[in-house]
Amino acid sequence: MIETGLRGKVVLVTGCASGIGLAAARRFSAEGAAIAGWDVNAERGKQFEAAISAEGQAAFWNVDVSDAGAVNAAAGEVVERFGGIDVLINNAGILRDAQLVKYKDGAVAGTMEDEAWNAVIGVNLRGVFNCGRAVAKHMVERQRGGVILSAASVVGLYGNFGQSNYVAAKAGVIGMTKVWARELGRHRIRVNAVAPGFISTGMTETMPEKVLATMVQHTPIGRLGTPEDVAEAYVWLASDAASFIHGTVLSVDGGVVTGT
Ligand code: NAI
Repeated sequence: MIETGLRGKVVLVTGCASGIGLAAARRFSAEGAAIAGWDVNAERGKQFEAAISAEGQAAFWNVDVSDAGAVNAAAGEVVERFGGIDVLINNAGILRDAQLVKYKDGAVAGTMEDEAWNAVIGVNLRGVFNCGRAVAKHMVERQRGGVILSAASVVGLYGNFGQSNYVAAKAGVIGMTKVWARELGRHRIRVNAVAPGFISTGMTETMPEKVLATMVQHTPIGRLGTPEDVAEAYVWLASDAASFIHGTVLSVDGGVVTGT
């Protein structure tokens, strides 16, 4: 068995209450890490805390990652409670899909509204910036290195219909990952992004059956991914086995890109 080096480490997971974030929290906990979880869903967050605490160590904070003040304060509390943060998983994310300009029955039927743009950029891009800044500051101050991993998406690499806001945010996450890799490497902080394909979570459950079937059709492996598929990638990238992997984007997508 490969030793991951994660035993006793402190892992902060944003969007910990469901889907990929919850699977990642479970998987890191199984490696012997203590988990700090942030989410806006307090009820599910408490369930996360109880579930992980049954077999490991976990604490939940009700934090909106788009709120820089709340993020800075909560990062300080995590450091106080656990003595530091070794790994940040920037996972929280939302969707508000709409076409830039929707044309139906010979007329313009709508556009992507400011609310949809601001909400998605606020959580998926500014949220990653807020959390990266707050946590990197602690990591640099402590001088014990660290790992920052962020949720990008295959659509951040290739675009997607109806997702100007989401794709802009995910492409931005990929860009920030490359900047942070250059800036933080000298502090022994490794920075990478994961680009999931179509993963079966609350986010994809809301999509019409027909759209999901098309996604599977375009995935050479022939199925949707699971949250655990992505959690494995996070654990590997955070582990000592990936000690020379830096500034990259790892696709976890069943080959969806080649099948499109
Ligand atoms: P999910 O909807 O199942 O879970 C997202 C979690 O983030 C929820 O618990 C939600 O309450 C939390 N959250 C939302 N806004 C927040 C905020 N402002 N502050 C803190 N927490 C907040 O989503 P899923 O599918 O697990 O996605 C996780 C990440 O993976 C997201 O960044 C998503 O964009 C990305 N991703 C997901 C894919 C998929 O097919 N499910 C594909 C590619 C990327």
